[in-house]
Amino acid sequence: MNARTSEGTAKAVRAAVEAAVWAPSLHNTQPWSFSVFGEEIGVRADPERRLRVEDTSGREMLIGCGAALFNVRITLRAMDYLPLVRLLPDPDRPNLLATVRPGTLVAADEHARLMHAEIERRRTHRGAFADIPLSEEFLDALGREASEEGARLVPIGSQAAVEVLAALTCAAQRVQEQDQPFALEVLRWSRPPGSTRRDGVPAGAYPLEPGRTDPEFLQRDYARGQPWGYGRRPEDPEAASAGVVAVLTTAGDVREHWLAAGQALQRVLLRASAHGVSAAFHTQALEFSHLREFLRQELLSGEHPQMIMRLGVTLEVPEGARRPPEVIEEQ
Ligand SMILES: Cc1cc2nc3c(=O)[nH]c(=O)nc-3n(C[C@H](O)[C@H](O)[C@H](O)COP(=O)(O)O)c2cc1C
Repeated sequence: MNARTSEGTAKAVRAAVEAAVWAPSLHNTQPWSFSVFGEEIGVRADPERRLRVEDTSGREMLIGCGAALFNVRITLRAMDYLPLVRLLPDPDRPNLLATVRPGTLVAADEHARLMHAEIERRRTHRGAFADIPLSEEFLDALGREASEEGARLVPIGSQAAVEVLAALTCAAQRVQEQDQPFALEVLRWSRPPGSTRRDGVPAGAYPLEPGRTDPEFLQRDYARGQPWGYGRRPEDPEAASAGVVAVLTTAGDVREHWLAAGQALQRVLLRASAHGVSAAFHTQALEFSHLREFLRQELLSGEHPQMIMRLGVTLEVPEGARRPPEVIEEQ
C-alpha cells in the first residue's frame, strides 16, 4: 500500500466518480450529477431526469442515486481509502444527497476488491434464468449485505406469495401499457437499434425472446412491439426458470430509506455478480401506491417494498450504456 499523496487521492476521486455512473437506474435515466471540491465528492440527484409519471415521489430516482453512492464508496475502499460519508449534509440543498471523502489508508480486503471488479460488468437481466438453483447460504450472504446498509432482502419462499407478486407485476404492466402518459414515458427512454444515445434502454439490453417462466413476470415493453433485442447464442443454456424472487425492503419510507435501499441494492447486486448471479427487476407494481401498500401489509410484515427482483444464473451479456459523468469542478 502506498503513502497518501495528493496525486493518489485525486486519482481515487476520479475513479470513484467514473464508477458511480455504472449504477442501475430506472430506464437508465442516470438521474445524478457529481461535484468535486478538493478531495470531496458530492453526489447529487438530477431532478430533470426524474420520471414524472412513474416516479412522482422521486423514490426510484433516489434508489438509483443510492446505488451510485455505493459505487463511489466501494471504489474508494478498493483503492485502500476508508470513505468518509455524510448523508444529506445540507438541508438547504436537498439535491445534494451525500458528500464522500477519501479518509485514512487501510489496505482493502478481498471482498471490496471483488465487488469493485463487478461494477462495470454487472448488467440487468430481462428474461428467464437457467435452471440452476441458488443455495440458502448464498441467499443468506446476500441478505447480510443488504442488512449492512440498513435494508432487508426478503427471499419469497412461498409459491403462493411468488404468484401474488407475479400477478401484481402483470396487472401493473398491463395497466401501464394502456395508460398513455405511462406508455409515453417508457417510449421516451427506449432506444431503437443503432441509437448512439448513452442513456435510456438500448435494444441490445434485452432478449428478443425472454423465455417463459412459471409464473410469468411480465417485462417492461422497451421494444414497443418491434422485433428488437438480442438473439440466443448456441452456448446460452435453456432459460425457463423464474429464479429466486426477492423483495428489498426498508423499515421506513423517507429519503434516507430510499438512499439506504439504493446502497443495499448495489451491494447485493455486486456481491451476486461476483458469484455469477444476475438480477431482473419488476418494479411496475411499486409505482401504484395502493399495490405497494397491499404488498407491505399482506406479504412483507409492514416493511416498505423498494425493489422486486428475481435472482438467477444466465450467460447472456446485455448491452450497457452510460453518459460520461457530469462533474462540476469547484475550486
Ligand atoms: C429503481 C429502479 C427500478 C427499476 N425497474 C426496472 C424494471 O421494472 N424493469 C427492468 O427491466 N429494469 C428495471 N430497472 C433496471 C434499469 O432499467 C437498469 O438499471 C438500467 O437500464 C441500466 O442498465 P444496467 O442495470 O444493465 O446497467 C430498475 C432499476 C432501478 C434502479
